[in-house]
Amino acid sequence: MLGEIGLAPMAGVTNWSFRKLCFEYGAQFAFTEMISADSVVRNISINNKYFPRCEEKDKVAVQIFGSDPFIMAQAAKIVEGKGAWIDINAGCPVKKIVKRGAGSALLRDLKRLKQIIYEVKKNVNCKVSVKVRLGWEKNEFEKIYNAVVEAGADAIFVHGRTAKQMYSGKATWELKNEGYIPFYINGDINSLEIAKIAKEISGADGVLIGRGAIGSPWIFSKNQIGLVERLEIILRHIDLLYEEVGERAAVEFRKFVSGYTKNLRNAREFRVSVMKILDVEELKTTFTLYFEKLAA
Ligand SMILES: Cc1cc2nc3c(=O)[nH]c(=O)nc-3n(C[C@H](O)[C@H](O)[C@H](O)COP(=O)(O)O)c2cc1C
Repeated sequence: MLGEIGLAPMAGVTNWSFRKLCFEYGAQFAFTEMISADSVVRNISINNKYFPRCEEKDKVAVQIFGSDPFIMAQAAKIVEGKGAWIDINAGCPVKKIVKRGAGSALLRDLKRLKQIIYEVKKNVNCKVSVKVRLGWEKNEFEKIYNAVVEAGADAIFVHGRTAKQMYSGKATWELKNEGYIPFYINGDINSLEIAKIAKEISGADGVLIGRGAIGSPWIFSKNQIGLVERLEIILRHIDLLYEEVGERAAVEFRKFVSGYTKNLRNAREFRVSVMKILDVEELKTTFTLYFEKLAA
């Protein structure tokens, strides 16, 4: 919708601080973590932490999930204006979401998915996209694509696996871009070179990168990142996360450690030691000493 390469939505990962780093290294757009439409309608204050900040508002979509078309439409009205556009989650395979008829459960009830898109579109003035998978248990992308287009969505993002596959096997990029609405391919895209291949195979207008960006926000950049710059990014990430969540930053940063230390010497031992740290300054010092040792 906004360029050719975006950061995929990831609950617990794509918060403000991480989005900021990805933008700095070339991501052109991003999403919030998924937000429950029910909780938006009930006005639960915790949602405020998810909404985009002012400076990024024009390039971050607010992603909502739910199963009731009218609650989704109400939630969309409330979040309209908090981000660049609204994205509907029709791809999440997590049990507790699917049990409620939301996320990828919508892929086995296309009538409902269409109604959700239709009601949301009717209720807002901003663009509305949908993020899907190939299907529930088999590849039915053509049917899903047609349903999404017919219901009036403005763009589609597809993770090239079925819901049943979760994250197993390889994502397929062998899909056809019919070209009615902007079409983005996603799944297993771990570099700009691979992004180009996935785009060529699928004919997609652009790509989303998810897990490949965790602990590698520079994945969006053409430039090589050396050890000195890698440490700078890590320290900055910790500072930004601290600004966002306070002392919890030391614990929340743990999910990025594996990515940031990929292919480094003695990474395994280092990771074990870092996972115990509860203090942000100690975390920064520990990283600095580790990188000094690597450089020596
Ligand atoms: C930790 C994690 C959280 C995720 N949360 C969401 C989410 O909130 N909304 C969504 O649409 N997809 C979510 N996804 C799926 C990703 O957006 C993406 O489709 C998937 O990871 C495949 O792309 P990748 O191979 O580039 O990671 C999540 C994935 C991961 C790994």
